[in-house]
Amino acid sequence: MRLQGKVVLVTGAARRVGRCIASALGERGARLALHYNKSRREALSLAADIKEGFGRDAEVFQADLADPRAAARLADAVGKRFGAIHALVNNASVYEVNRFGRTSQKDWDRHLDVNLRAPFFLCQAAAPWMREAGGGRIVNIGDWAGQRPYTDRIPYCVSKAGLIALTTALAKELAPDIQVNAILPGAVLLPDDYPPRKKAAVVAAAPLKRLGTPRDVAEAVVFLVENGDFITGAALPVDGGRLIA
Ligand SMILES: NC(=O)c1ccc[n+]([C@@H]2O[C@H](COP(=O)([O-])OP(=O)(O)OC[C@H]3O[C@@H](n4cnc5c(N)ncnc54)[C@H](OP(=O)(O)O)[C@@H]3O)[C@@H](O)[C@H]2O)c1
Repeated sequence: MRLQGKVVLVTGAARRVGRCIASALGERGARLALHYNKSRREALSLAADIKEGFGRDAEVFQADLADPRAAARLADAVGKRFGAIHALVNNASVYEVNRFGRTSQKDWDRHLDVNLRAPFFLCQAAAPWMREAGGGRIVNIGDWAGQRPYTDRIPYCVSKAGLIALTTALAKELAPDIQVNAILPGAVLLPDDYPPRKKAAVVAAAPLKRLGTPRDVAEAVVFLVENGDFITGAALPVDGGRLIA
């Protein structure tokens, strides 16, 4: 699918990895629906950058994806505003430490609601728009830890494991019109407060012996949307080899 002029909804687009994904899609000529929850200022500045830098249409949409109805409402609002949705990137995510024995039901629900339930309902609401447009692409941003869960963040790891299962199920459900794939990043952008000692351990654990970059993830998204014509149901690690270590 050529991205030129296509409408792409990116969730969690205002900051960090999502911002880089949205910029890379804008650079390729996509018209962008930029979802944010709290980062309104950053979302508006990204929309302005995309309009000025690439001359593309870019609009911001607020939604708290922990709200069960917000995902479907978001997809419908985007479809109505642009008249189409060609691709969806499920990037928004909660990533919190939850130690075993001290994890609450709220912790569990927050991760599963935002990282797994919302992508499902976004896909369900976006699929009719994609079919009407003659086909579509969905890219779910998972995590290598969805296949190799670690401790201290079990709700997060389980939500990402579920997202990989969702990718497979939806790839079957939505074929042949809509292709659904996942990207499994390794460490590409650590939280701002990540301790230096832990950062060194993360670097050492990947066979390529470095952190990735948000651009590595963005390039994989662009590839799956633009060139992955015969790819569906795949979970593509972009992790410096972390999964095979
Ligand atoms: N960073 C990495 O190294 C890494 C590694 C492996 C996988 N990943 C995956 O890659 C993706 C992007 O990573 P990241 O580090 O850039 O993510 P992030 O900064 O942790 O979160 C991305 C965005 O998710 C949005 N979000 C959080 N709670 C939300 C809610 N209740 N409703 C709606 N949106 C909500 C936030 O939007 P607002 O700011 O607008 O509130 C936030 O900016 C995620 O899916 C992550 O799991 C990242």
